[in-house]
Amino acid sequence: MSPLRVTRTLPEDATDAALRADVLAGLTVNPKSLPPKWFYDARGSELFEQITELPEYYPTRAEREILTTRSGEIAAASRARTLVELGSGSSEKTRHLLDALTSLEAYVPVDVSESALTQAGRALVEERPDLEVHALIADFTAPLSLPETPGPRLLAFLGGTIGNLLPAEREKFLASVRSLLAPGDGLLLGTDLVKDERVLVRAYDDAAGVTAAFNKNVLAVVDRELGADFDPDAFDHVALWDAEREWIEMRLRSRTAQTVKVPALGLAVDFAAGEELRTEVSAKFRRDGVSAELGAAGLELTHWWTDAEGRFALSLSVV
Ligand code: AVJ
Repeated sequence: MSPLRVTRTLPEDATDAALRADVLAGLTVNPKSLPPKWFYDARGSELFEQITELPEYYPTRAEREILTTRSGEIAAASRARTLVELGSGSSEKTRHLLDALTSLEAYVPVDVSESALTQAGRALVEERPDLEVHALIADFTAPLSLPETPGPRLLAFLGGTIGNLLPAEREKFLASVRSLLAPGDGLLLGTDLVKDERVLVRAYDDAAGVTAAFNKNVLAVVDRELGADFDPDAFDHVALWDAEREWIEMRLRSRTAQTVKVPALGLAVDFAAGEELRTEVSAKFRRDGVSAELGAAGLELTHWWTDAEGRFALSLSVV
């Protein structure tokens, strides 16, 4: 059995420095915003797992349907001997792919969470003694250096998380992905699709209030890590569809005029009554838009698979 290899390229103190920089930058501009990466502390990750099981939140089920029905075609089209997965998390989604990729020799899960990587990696090396597993503790939005493993590579970025990136950030990200790929390699990209606004908004504002708790959890992260005095009950969860930009926006609306202190940054942040702090965009895509964005990065879209209801898509593109 090949041992699990774990490489950390994310400096130990990276998280603290990045959080401080993001909070300082995001709370001292107008409109205020915080990057969605800060949702995912232990409680945020748990709340997100709950979100994936909500009746209103279709993306996870839709993507799982595609992976269970199309992994054979994906494997045949990519013939990958290495699977690299960005934002691998529990690698739960990946099992269908790993089963279908019969020529696979190496799996490179990439995530910021060391615990998720080691937990998933240990299970995989047990189950698949012939598979080399190289776990990378890294932020996939930063430049990556991948281990030497057999080609062709299939780089998977699933879940629709690319939708969290603003258009300019997506352009930069896809260019950096392209730089990792050699001729014959491929990108398997999960994208949520444009659809009825009511369906979209409900998926980000569920009746049980789990998404509201997930959204407010970022305030608890800033309170805990930077000693701030955000009161989550002093903010309301907002989910809206920006039809022009074709993205869902999550925001936290201040119920009253209030001042929040962030001692670690020497900040006192004023909120006007009704002022909104943006906490996430989740872009929704159309096939021609995805093809154009991939094309601009030097990738050619060759396959497009959706779930039966056409809610979510997996695309395969090649260098
Ligand atoms: C994990 C980023 C794909 O954008 O749908 C779920 C996160 N936010 N509910 C998404 C999320 C609110 C999710 N991604």
